[in-house]
Amino acid sequence: MAHRWTNDLTPADVTPKEVWLNRRQIVAGLGVGIGAGAIAGPGLAYTPDPSLEPNTFEDITTYNNFYEFGTAKEDPAKNAHLLQTEPWSITVNGMVDNPGEYTVEDLIGGFDIEERIYRFRCVEAWSMVIPWNGVELADVLDRVGVQDGARYVAFETVVQPENMIGVRRRVLDFPYVEGLRLDEARHPLTMMATGIYGEPMPKQNGAPIRLVVPWKYGFKSIKSIVRITLTDEEPPTSWNKANAREYGFYSNVNPNVDHPRWSQATERRIGGGLFQRRQPTLMFNGYDEVASLYEGMDLTEFY
Ligand code: MTE
Repeated sequence: MAHRWTNDLTPADVTPKEVWLNRRQIVAGLGVGIGAGAIAGPGLAYTPDPSLEPNTFEDITTYNNFYEFGTAKEDPAKNAHLLQTEPWSITVNGMVDNPGEYTVEDLIGGFDIEERIYRFRCVEAWSMVIPWNGVELADVLDRVGVQDGARYVAFETVVQPENMIGVRRRVLDFPYVEGLRLDEARHPLTMMATGIYGEPMPKQNGAPIRLVVPWKYGFKSIKSIVRITLTDEEPPTSWNKANAREYGFYSNVNPNVDHPRWSQATERRIGGGLFQRRQPTLMFNGYDEVASLYEGMDLTEFY
């Protein structure tokens, strides 16, 4: 499959050596003044620019939102081992030429699995940088054959009440559902991800296959997908159903539209260690190439 998009972040995009060496000296200097205890630890040996360095596998797999497994950040890592991923079947239906039941292999087999290092911004005003592995959703859509007149893609997460404590507690109206406009779905940034750091997708991150939409708040990136529906009507989305005032259909990262209960102007990088501090949030999470999708739309109205 041809690459239609190139990473702007790569593992080489860490702070240049001189800079972190410098910084280390500055910190060492600070240590004299503020007490060496405050700066002790192996983290000091390497302090990359937190806006570019991928988060550790540990961060990415222990600080999660997957409400089917509980609402606390550490719950998915504790509880998602119960998710049954074999066999896995994905129903593709609605306005498609080839509806039916697909395995993951049926959907993505034969395509290049790319690594893409994406900024990931949660509506809760924290962020990470994650090296995902996967394919472009556009390729999957071409494989199933989108019919004329389809305007949206709807997605649904598996429901396994016996394995999912959050489903039994009804913390949301499950199944978790999400949707994209067809042009958003077809954008080359939009990815169906099957792994992280070259490892198969951890269950707490949405095994075996999930969506990743890097210019939208993390909650649009629905996990453990079992249904993909092509439709001509804007589909319901879980967080909009739960609280329409706080979560709209579009949910683009937009520092100028505050969440009703907190600001979206800055973000806290997870895993920033000693240098963890708030960074300004960028429009579309910095993915300016999607701006044309929303030309002429008032993004304060369509939030
Ligand atoms: N998908 C399902 N099925 N259930 C969820 O609770 N949470 C969303 C999204 N996808 C969620 C989901 C939210 S709020 C975020 S921020 C991301 O998953 C978190 O993805 P991560 O845990 O891999 O970082």
